[in-house]
Amino acid sequence: MSSVVIVGTQWGDEGKGKITNALASCAEMVVRFQGGANAGHTVSVNREPVVFHLLPSGISVPGVKCVLGPGVVIDPHALSSEIEGVRARGIEVSGNLMIDIGAHMVMPYHKAMEAAQEKSRGGSAIGTTLRGIGPAYSDRCARDGLTIGELASFDDFAAKAKVAAGRKNDLLVKLYGAEPLDIEEMISEMRPIAEHLAPHLADATRVVRRAISEGDSVLFEGAQGTLLDVAFGTYPFVTSSHTIAAGVAAGAGIPPSMVGEVVGIAKAYVTRVGAGPFPTEIGGPAAAELRERGHEWGSTTGRSRRCGWLDIPALRYSIDLNGMTRLIVTKLDVLDTFEAIPVCVGYEIDGERTDVFPRRGDLLDRAKPVYEELPGWQESTVEARTERDLPANALAYLRNIEERTGTKVSAVSVGAAAHAVVEFASVM
Ligand code: IMO
Ligand code: MG
Repeated sequence: MSSVVIVGTQWGDEGKGKITNALASCAEMVVRFQGGANAGHTVSVNREPVVFHLLPSGISVPGVKCVLGPGVVIDPHALSSEIEGVRARGIEVSGNLMIDIGAHMVMPYHKAMEAAQEKSRGGSAIGTTLRGIGPAYSDRCARDGLTIGELASFDDFAAKAKVAAGRKNDLLVKLYGAEPLDIEEMISEMRPIAEHLAPHLADATRVVRRAISEGDSVLFEGAQGTLLDVAFGTYPFVTSSHTIAAGVAAGAGIPPSMVGEVVGIAKAYVTRVGAGPFPTEIGGPAAAELRERGHEWGSTTGRSRRCGWLDIPALRYSIDLNGMTRLIVTKLDVLDTFEAIPVCVGYEIDGERTDVFPRRGDLLDRAKPVYEELPGWQESTVEARTERDLPANALAYLRNIEERTGTKVSAVSVGAAAHAVVEFASVM
């Protein structure tokens, strides 16, 4: 298999980083194609958790080339300090990291604008990660953005950045009543960062295309999840990029024909950070137990994640939209203690029963989940490494997902450790 795409099936935080990292040991290259430092991919490296925000999760695997594609928005400060941070932990970042010159930059004024915009939204705030993602993609579409490749000619970049920042200062002060940015300081801080990142800048898309045509195994690591896609997620409570597999071609600079198998990552239950509809959200002791056992606090912002039960219609929507051929279920062990586990198999909307995930936000707001309750297994799955090690009810929980989605579960993760995986079939 020369190209595999890893996509989250829910609202992010499905465990894409761990799975990408595991699969990276059989790959030559790992490519991020969208998103930015809003992602938080936790990977266990030498038994220590390491959180990657911009760097592809394959960076810790020796010999694997990592690429930030043109669809990613890069905060140069964040990337530079992330590189230093992972180097300090003994992970090599040198010729193994390539940054495509076409990727747009998240500038300090994007973050300032986002803070002002979120504040002005008041009660209808999106609850973004405040990493400047939306404003950076907005500028790209408005043709006001700055690509990271422009850092190579620093004085030209500085002239453009001054004009752009001046305009944003006007908006910050006059429209939002916020503090303006110190433009000279912004430019002078960028100079050493530009030098730091310069050796990694390249037309990386050519390298990705060549790798695939030469038969190398290339993994595309999605960030966020299908339900946060800017066009197909729960708009406007979404991120500002195409998180779905269809985003790979444009976000990595490859023809659609080079996009290979799509693997969906599904947490055994569901979480969401930030505002927006979430039909199977629960409260009370069960939510607290999921949060506590699953360590469901945001790895980027530290916010407490909203928790709820598995939503089969939403999962079917993701599988269908992405063309997922397999699922990898994560965090099954978090459910180990529950006596019974509700699984949403449909919704009741305005008195009518449906098993289709509604794309209309108002319908989703009114969707009441219809649950089927499955028996729990109430024993630890953390040590399970083969299918035979899994309790019968845990296997039945997975089989139920397969039957209801018509999609194979090829592996299940049962703990944070890299080896805490039960594989049913080889993915790569
Ligand atoms: P990973 O890759 C979970 C959510 C934010 C907010 C919305 C928009 O770790 O799965 P943004 O800052 O992107 O404009 O915020 O999207 N969000 C995520 N939620 N995991 C993520 O990334 C997320 N990245 C953004 O909470 O609701
Ligand atoms: Mg995350």
